[in-house]
This record gives sequence, C-alpha cells and structure tokens, in this order.
Amino acid sequence: MAETRNIGFEILRFRPESDEEPVWETFEVPCREEWVVLDALNYIKDEIDGTLSHRWSCRMGVCGSCGMMVNGTPKLTCNAFVRDLPEPIRIAPLANFPIVRDLVVDLESFVTKIKKVKPWIIRKTEKDVAHGEYMQTPDELDNYKQFTMCINCSLCYAACPVLAHEPDFIGPAAIALAFRYNQDSRDEGEAERYDVLNSHEGVWSCSYANECSEVCPKSVDPAAAVNRSKLVSAMQWTGLLSKRGAE
Ligand code: FES
Repeated sequence: MAETRNIGFEILRFRPESDEEPVWETFEVPCREEWVVLDALNYIKDEIDGTLSHRWSCRMGVCGSCGMMVNGTPKLTCNAFVRDLPEPIRIAPLANFPIVRDLVVDLESFVTKIKKVKPWIIRKTEKDVAHGEYMQTPDELDNYKQFTMCINCSLCYAACPVLAHEPDFIGPAAIALAFRYNQDSRDEGEAERYDVLNSHEGVWSCSYANECSEVCPKSVDPAAAVNRSKLVSAMQWTGLLSKRGAE
C-alpha cells in the first residue's frame, strides 16, 4: 500500500435542484505524495460522494477541461500538486462564469467570443490544392507560434479583472487567437477581425492587469497579444499601417 496523508479539502458545491446558492463542503482525503488536485477530486467522487460534479479528460495539461479556482487562483487541477498547496485546499468553479453544477461552469459565452474573431485562416482566393501548400519561412512561423499554444482552458477569463465587471469583454484568449491569425503570413482576414477587436468590448477594454498571462498554463502570454493588438490597431486607424485583406 502506498503511503498517504490526510488532507482537508473545502469544495464549493451547488446542486441547482436543492441549493439556492453555492455552499462549502469539507472532505478529508487520504492523498498520496504524487497526487494532483484532480486525483483528490476523483477520489472524492469514487469513494466518498458520487454526486460531486467536475470536468476533466486528458490528465496531462492538454485538453484544458479541468480548470478550477484552487485556493482562489485559476489552475488546471491536473497540473496542481497537492503537496505544494497550503491546507485546507479550497476548490471552487472558475470565476467569471455561471455555475452549472458544483465545479462545472457554463462556457457558452467563452465559445461564442472565440468564434467572433474567426480563428481560422481566411483567404481572399483559395489556390487549388494541386498548386501545393502555402509556404512559410521559420521566421514567419515564429511571429505567431507562441499564440498557437492556447488550449482554451479559459483560466485567463477567470483571472481577468475586467471580465469580472464587464462580462461582454471579448477577453484574452479570443484576442490572442485573433492576433495569432492576424500575424500568420498565410492569412488575409485581418480586415474582417478589425471591427470585433476595436469594438467597445474589444482590445481597448483591457486595463493591462496582466493576470491572464500570470495564470496561463502554456505561457501563451495573452496580455502581450492584447497590447500588441492595440498598437497595430492604432497604427491602422491612423493610416500608418494597412490591414491585410482590406480591399
Ligand atoms: S484534464 Fe486535460 S488539461 Fe487537465
């Protein structure tokens, strides 16, 4: 038998059929040294209370589905070692999203915002497949590669102080994705993304708190994308720079 240590967890529960508002519930979990928070949540669900609801899939920091507030900070629970956290460990659903049940939040607004920036390569005219792929140099790839690392975990939305007060703000991940495609030498959709990025809910709502980049588990640095987008937009607005894809 592997050695275990009892650790106290406080978990925010919300059962819409019976709870008027979320309530904290305490659990004592025999944790192994190498466990992450997700292991403890799975133990609670398997051994103590099968009604606990939480999301996860890959267990390796890739799918982005296990994000929660861990002691008040947005984290991937499959990437947060229990041994590194002060006790009791408080687990709550991601902030800035409506709770569906227990630790599961409604991500519909997040998905809608991501779609708004058209995060795919837009071409004015597609060349025939028979004419080969669109070529790109290593330097052109370097221009945007960092921003392709986003796993849509939405931790940056839970950390964003602007979203806490302005829920319609399009948010860090959507802007980082827009920037990723705007920087891609194969893309001609910058003009189509311009209005969304420069709307009232766009890049100019960001107050550069940098919290999004602090919590990003993939070091995407969405705050850099937001603020570089502001610079590009300002130059385009003044006519110093043209928009790729504009007529
Ligand atoms: S379970 Fe996939 S990122 Fe944590």
